[in-house]
Amino acid sequence: MDLQLSGRSVVVTGASRGIGRAIAEAFAAEGARLTLCARGAEDLERTREALAAAHPGAEVQTVVADVTAEADAARTVEAAVSAYGALDVLVNNAGATVRAAALDEAWRGSFELNVLAPTRLMELAKPHLARAPGGGAVVNISSIYGRESGGPPQYNATKAAQIAMSKAYALQWAAQGIRVNNVAPGSIAFEGGSWGRRLKEDPEGMARFIERDIPGGRFGRPEEVAAAVVFLASPVASWILGTTLNVDGGQSRSNI
Ligand SMILES: NC(=O)c1ccc[n+]([C@@H]2O[C@H](COP(=O)([O-])OP(=O)(O)OC[C@H]3O[C@@H](n4cnc5c(N)ncnc54)[C@H](OP(=O)(O)O)[C@@H]3O)[C@@H](O)[C@H]2O)c1
Repeated sequence: MDLQLSGRSVVVTGASRGIGRAIAEAFAAEGARLTLCARGAEDLERTREALAAAHPGAEVQTVVADVTAEADAARTVEAAVSAYGALDVLVNNAGATVRAAALDEAWRGSFELNVLAPTRLMELAKPHLARAPGGGAVVNISSIYGRESGGPPQYNATKAAQIAMSKAYALQWAAQGIRVNNVAPGSIAFEGGSWGRRLKEDPEGMARFIERDIPGGRFGRPEEVAAAVVFLASPVASWILGTTLNVDGGQSRSNI
């Protein structure tokens, strides 16, 4: 199936490793023109080189940016528009549990990263998304722990808020031809990620966890999340907006 993403200008946040990197790879394979951001310059450059090697001719630029800093977010959007003359798709992937000894710091940090930063990026991108031929698209990466109980409280609550924010924007922006959707991964393992680390440290505990919690019988892979993201971002998903798609091997227990 042609996802009609060739030549589209796509921003992916948190693209230097894990799920974000797999999302960038999936868009590169579709011929999209990429703007990738993360805070760490080295990982980001390694990712750019890997994409360029795997997809000769791919247009990939990187921006060292912290999505929680307003000026960095603006720079990321501007970089996409000035390099490619457009911004057609925004993928808000950067996210995490912010941990800190002080309660306010942990909660404020988690809210800023998982809710405020994607919202701000959406607002910055909006005028460009509204001009995208055939309509712009936003895909926000939440978690099954935004749909049901699980994970640290500040993660659980802010990922739920991210889903609510996305739904509200989806309904508001539909009239301007911008589709906003969410992807909710279950436990996704990769080298250097938190589940990848736990698999190495406690393989037996992880085997019990999988048996108890994941009907699919294994951890998910980043590229399985990426496949859902490129689909939702593509014109092929033209009638899908305001949805949250689980990619979790049946891990989520929620009926909705
Ligand atoms: N892995 C899972 O099992 C899982 C499950 C459900 C949902 N998710 C969600 O999926 C997304 C990606 O998860 P992941 O496991 O791939 O994460 P990860 O391995 O921690 O990678 C996060 C990426 O985001 C970047 N990043 C972190 N904070 C940033 C910031 N403030 N500004 C810009 N970039 C930032 C990181 O690079 P730098 O550190 O260099 O900035 C890195 O490229 C997150 O939203 C996460 O909540 C993951």
